Amino acid sequence: MAAPPTPPAWNRAADPFVELVSADAITRRVAELGATITADYRAIGAGEDVVVIGVLKGSVIFMSDLIRQVALPLTVDFIGVASYGDATVSSGVVQITQDLTRPIEGKHVLVVEDIVDTGHTVHYLMANLATRNPASIKLCSLLHKPDRAEREVHIDYLGFTIPNKFVVGYGLDVAQRYRNLPFIGYVAQP
Ligand code: IMP
Repeated sequence: MAAPPTPPAWNRAADPFVELVSADAITRRVAELGATITADYRAIGAGEDVVVIGVLKGSVIFMSDLIRQVALPLTVDFIGVASYGDATVSSGVVQITQDLTRPIEGKHVLVVEDIVDTGHTVHYLMANLATRNPASIKLCSLLHKPDRAEREVHIDYLGFTIPNKFVVGYGLDVAQRYRNLPFIGYVAQP
């Protein structure tokens, strides 16, 4: 059988990212998270009632890899949120821009986020979803920047703790760009 085609390499000279978390490290951590999530939800007998909710748009790449590492009969849904502020600083005012397509009452909800930064978005979102009477609600975040925390947020499943850098790649953007980088990095200062 022919070898799979190699994806095109990024031109790191033209787009000088400093790699913070490699694609291989992400793959390994996502597999670990998936195994833990599978075991935990089996242990509580969640059965057919697990709903994984991706927070648009940053979580979509992480979520698509994660759910393929979770051996449970789950369903997926998405929610869109906007946090007002400038490009890189959250104001703390959060709004739902696109709601779930189905009720979550009685379901075991796992919210999947790209990053917990100040914590405002997740704080608002978890409180909002909790009012809809799910059987349980947990948070899985790929990244956490503890230096920036303004709200206390409990992260049930965490990929990586990172320093206070504005990161891009693997779903995360700056001005909607670079979500398709296969690794997580930050833009090097000239
Ligand atoms: P928070 O409300 O400050 O926790 O920020 C939540 C949202 O801001 C995340 O879901 C991201 O969309 C965005 N964000 C925060 N930090 C970064 C970053 O370093 N890179 C890209 N997006 C970020």
